[in-house]
Amino acid sequence: MQIDVFTLFPRWFEWFGEQRHVRNATANGHELSFVDLRTATPLSGGQVDDTPYGGGAGMVIRVDVVEAALRSHYTIDPLVLAARRRGLVMAASGRPFDEELAHELAAEQRLTILCGRYEGFDERVHEQLASDVVSIGPYVLAGGELAAMVVCDAVLRKLPGSLGHADSALEESFSQSLGGAPEYPHYTRPAEWRGHGVPEVLLSGDHARVRSWRLRESGRRQVARAVRTGSAHPSHPD
Ligand code: ADE
Repeated sequence: MQIDVFTLFPRWFEWFGEQRHVRNATANGHELSFVDLRTATPLSGGQVDDTPYGGGAGMVIRVDVVEAALRSHYTIDPLVLAARRRGLVMAASGRPFDEELAHELAAEQRLTILCGRYEGFDERVHEQLASDVVSIGPYVLAGGELAAMVVCDAVLRKLPGSLGHADSALEESFSQSLGGAPEYPHYTRPAEWRGHGVPEVLLSGDHARVRSWRLRESGRRQVARAVRTGSAHPSHPD
């Protein structure tokens, strides 16, 4: 898989690129690059944004600046590129990022992620130069960089070989094997800590009982979550 992140702050991603699962992914042949939106700007003085038509606070990143950055990096017309390559704009107004979308994106060969700043991008970037607008949650960040890292993190860890243990991504929160429910609780040594123990079943060595306890706990969490978010009670494969 090849992921290119376009940002005004490529150095933010240096730390991200050094993380173990990211290095594992790149060692396995996946590519992750960070492109400075400013370097190819056709405007003088490195300008990338402008005041919004119709007035209002803040600055908007120009569509011609994004076009130039994409053209310079991919050497094809960005409108042609948009038809061929999945391109995400990170914005609070977008499609909520969830496990299903992470799974979908992990199946792509190539991904472009555009990180906005200030008031975000000119709407024509969303409409003409990208395929998806994606939000990591109903709150406004100062920019799309942290959101892009969240997306890259969730996607990269799904690629074979990124995680140390092959099974760690199989049975985790929202995975198919748990019917989309949150993961069950985990415990490790010590078995007794300041008067707080570990559920007896986990120490029993009885794998069938452990399995059914875990499914039950996962289901319990799913119900609690549904109550918290006000959604209908989901079913669970228990
Ligand atoms: N940019 C600003 N806020 C964001 C959010 N919640 N998700 C994705 N990108 C953003």
